[in-house]
Amino acid sequence: MEVPDSWVIHLHSDITSLLIHVGPAGVPSVVHWGPDLGPMAADLVVAVPKQVERMYVGNVPDTPMDPGILPASWTGWPGQPGISGHRGDGTAWSPRLQTTKVHYEGKVLAHGCHDLGPGGLHFDLIDDHAGLRAEIDVWLELGGSIRMQTKLTNIKESPYYLTGLTMALPVPLSADEILDFTGRWGKERVPQRRAVTAGTHMREHRRGRPGFDATTVLLCGAKGFTFRHGQVYGLHVASGGNSRAFVERVPGGMQFLGGGSLLQPGEVILGANQTHLSPMLHYTHGQGLDAAAHPFHRYVRGLEAAPGPQRPVALNVWEAVGFDHSLDKLIALADLAAQLGVERYIVDDGWFLGRRDDTAGLGDWIVDPTVWPEGLGPIVDHVRSLGMQFGLWFEPEMVSPNSELARAHPEWILAAGQNWPITWRNQQVLNLTIAQAKELVWQRMDHLVRRYHIDYIKWDHNRDTIDAGAQALGGRSVAGSQVAAALEIMDRLRADHPGLEIESCSSGGARIDLEMACHAQRFWVSDCIDPLERQSLQRWTMQLMPPEVLGTHIASERNQSTSRRHDLSFRAITALWGHMGIEWDLTEATDQELAELAGWVAWYKNNRQQLLTGDMVRDVVGDGSMWLHGVVSSDATVGFYCLASVGFAVNEIQDRLRFPGLDPQARYHVQAVNLGTGPAGLIAPPWLAEGATSTGAFLAEVGLAVPYFHPEQAMLFEARKQ
Ligand code: DGJ
Repeated sequence: MEVPDSWVIHLHSDITSLLIHVGPAGVPSVVHWGPDLGPMAADLVVAVPKQVERMYVGNVPDTPMDPGILPASWTGWPGQPGISGHRGDGTAWSPRLQTTKVHYEGKVLAHGCHDLGPGGLHFDLIDDHAGLRAEIDVWLELGGSIRMQTKLTNIKESPYYLTGLTMALPVPLSADEILDFTGRWGKERVPQRRAVTAGTHMREHRRGRPGFDATTVLLCGAKGFTFRHGQVYGLHVASGGNSRAFVERVPGGMQFLGGGSLLQPGEVILGANQTHLSPMLHYTHGQGLDAAAHPFHRYVRGLEAAPGPQRPVALNVWEAVGFDHSLDKLIALADLAAQLGVERYIVDDGWFLGRRDDTAGLGDWIVDPTVWPEGLGPIVDHVRSLGMQFGLWFEPEMVSPNSELARAHPEWILAAGQNWPITWRNQQVLNLTIAQAKELVWQRMDHLVRRYHIDYIKWDHNRDTIDAGAQALGGRSVAGSQVAAALEIMDRLRADHPGLEIESCSSGGARIDLEMACHAQRFWVSDCIDPLERQSLQRWTMQLMPPEVLGTHIASERNQSTSRRHDLSFRAITALWGHMGIEWDLTEATDQELAELAGWVAWYKNNRQQLLTGDMVRDVVGDGSMWLHGVVSSDATVGFYCLASVGFAVNEIQDRLRFPGLDPQARYHVQAVNLGTGPAGLIAPPWLAEGATSTGAFLAEVGLAVPYFHPEQAMLFEARKQ
């Protein structure tokens, strides 16, 4: 089909189609993204009429409105503009960017129709009059997600004041319910739902980190969508710092899912030929929430930084000792850890100069000789002699006002004006955009990693970066560059120390995002390790992240965040679904607890290959007081499932227990994995004694009678192909 002056480009994989049209107006816009349409047929081509044909006097633009991927106001679009900015005299605020060239995988595409596989498209758009060039990159990933990023360049001499750069994709009006997340310290990723109505549902993050209340994934779908039903569209904005994401519906029948840069006033003033790069936008879709999560998981698994499934079982000493470091105690913990089969031992906060509590020391990354007279050598050597890896905690972006560093360089503290920001956890943020500051932090970390052959860094970030101004620039915001500088240190350390792993921790889960996943191998989900809370925290964090990058620990019986008490089986079963670890003063554990714990560690090690490479499935059982979380191995030979009682059911015997995700044709034997005492209050259906054998289809659609047990207990099941 002839499409003069136009490009019609169809990227598709087995999972996803992305159909883009660049018409005579030069605006790249998406006609369809979602389920695969198969090879492109000519009738998919959109012949855009130049003029709206009116049968009556109405009131709409005379050319059909299509704002495009980088929504443009001049098209008549009344919603969020893609580019927000202007020149000093107030001009160039509504640029008319026209596509001049399109590349696919580096090769120039001629006008016409193109039916292509997964890969990268590059659109070059120019507005000479406004003096702006936008380069939009769009990738269709093999795993089914779509990524988009825009680079804006000022091609004139005069400065361009940029206040926002966002992109958007259309979603059908039938996607009329939003699901996204909020939270607070210790309770991240709390789901919230609301109807899509006319206007903008805008989520803005200006904490310098995504935050406890991060959107994480902004989803919309047909009202009532569940883990497996209803077409769902999702967006994650990957910035590591500030960002925005929105669902916008305008009367007239258009609805967009978009997001991008959130810039502080004056943060980005582009000089001649200077550029600003938006965060990466990651889009997924699928029938239900599980299908919409899998493309994100596949993307992370394909990253160069991905850790793979052989996650070493960890012991972190934080909840055992806090700031109270003593060699004898840390050695006793290491001995017990090794007996249990732990493979990585981590010394947390409290080892550096003056760090006896949270009021001092950040920035002075030197081993404190008053606590560690012989340095960290004795503990590191002991840990290694037990065959474990060694990890160490840092908080590189931070500085305590009470530190040698702050006393020497008060001008290195971020501040938007004459005064330092309010303290937060008694600390300030170090301006890493100052080359000397960045170098000093890197040098001190590099020295310790080299000296002690550190295998793993827990990289913490315990406060919001508010008032992120550079003192030397009169307080002008450096919010975005600050994040980039931290990532640069991470990359440099990893490049110089092959095999070094970094965990992104931010008082728990305040910095979980896909930009960070390009630099870090692990994310601390939350400071709350209460298994009841963790059931929800992990369930929803996995809407974005695959399990192997999520730190899931077993803590003491009485939880330090909630004071609730839980049986070891509930704590352990809850921790199996990620990168498992222990964070508990094992010197206080009974022999029986240690023996049971060793059993769970061994089970995890035997099964982590499948647990951490398969496809996640989630379900709600009965009236919602029981939750199912599972993983089916990529070859569908085995499925592991956790049935957790998260509430006190109204119905004593609940519904049926369905095991989704198995091969429908194959036969599986399902049985409980009993390593501990089993759940309290168990009323066991007959099948539980010997297990049950049936097809994947039966197990998914009909299911088995649900074992009843008391709240805040869990059971583990295995379904193995016969
Ligand atoms: C916050 C982290 O999330 C904790 O795990 C611990 O590392 C503390 N910081 C140490 O200060």
